[in-house]
Amino acid sequence: MKIGVFDSGLGGLVITRAFIKALPEYDYVYYGDTKHLPYGEKTSGRILNYTLEAVKFLISQDCAIIIIACNTATSIALRYIQQRFIPEYAPDVKVLGVVIPTVEEALEAHTAKVGVVATNATVRSHIYQTELHKIRPELEVEEIAAPKLVPAIEDNDFALAEALSKEYAAAFSNIDSLILGCTHYPLVKEYFRKSLPSVRVVSQDELMGAKLADYLHRHTEINCRLSQNGTHNFYVSKINKHYQLLANMLFPGIDIHEH
Ligand code: DGL
Repeated sequence: MKIGVFDSGLGGLVITRAFIKALPEYDYVYYGDTKHLPYGEKTSGRILNYTLEAVKFLISQDCAIIIIACNTATSIALRYIQQRFIPEYAPDVKVLGVVIPTVEEALEAHTAKVGVVATNATVRSHIYQTELHKIRPELEVEEIAAPKLVPAIEDNDFALAEALSKEYAAAFSNIDSLILGCTHYPLVKEYFRKSLPSVRVVSQDELMGAKLADYLHRHTEINCRLSQNGTHNFYVSKINKHYQLLANMLFPGIDIHEH
């Protein structure tokens, strides 16, 4: 059986690349819901429905573990999927998100004030603030939505993405750590680092590989069900020229299918 990775678009390919780097021998299936992107601007009900469909698709592709790499889908849908959907529909499948591992990583270093930059829906859910406060209630948290960044990245407009990153970075006050709470932001992490040189920028592409390796090491009951032929299958709900370009930039020679 395989490792499934889901994102609302192609940003999750960056996280998939990190998984493959850490665990190259496993078999992966990627699904990007490019037809409904951006999730960050959708209602919670629609985000939940789209995420459920994506998880069902990955289950049909023989995935024993599914990582919802999309922060927005994790914020809105993960709890329902873990607690209500999976126990009835596919009790043998494990579904994980990206928020908890990111919060753990952010709190590894000393920090007094954490900034979070994410989509509108993620910020509205306050999931990062909630999870950070569960571990450290006294921590100051400032969450800022950056709705213009994802469209700029998906359009391959990195000049605009740089200007926007600078603008969003400048909106934070006195943070010492910054969580990039969106699958697409690893692609602009250096712009944030340049704008905030004394801030520890936590980027999911730099932590998720080790987190998944650690998880599989601790959960041998899942690990022993995973096949290891090094195959990669990529699916999106809608392909266009821009997406093909972005996908090729992340995985040269990628063969991407529409589903
Ligand atoms: N994948 C989303 C996330 O990580 C960003 C793109 C979107 O808004 O759908 O929050």
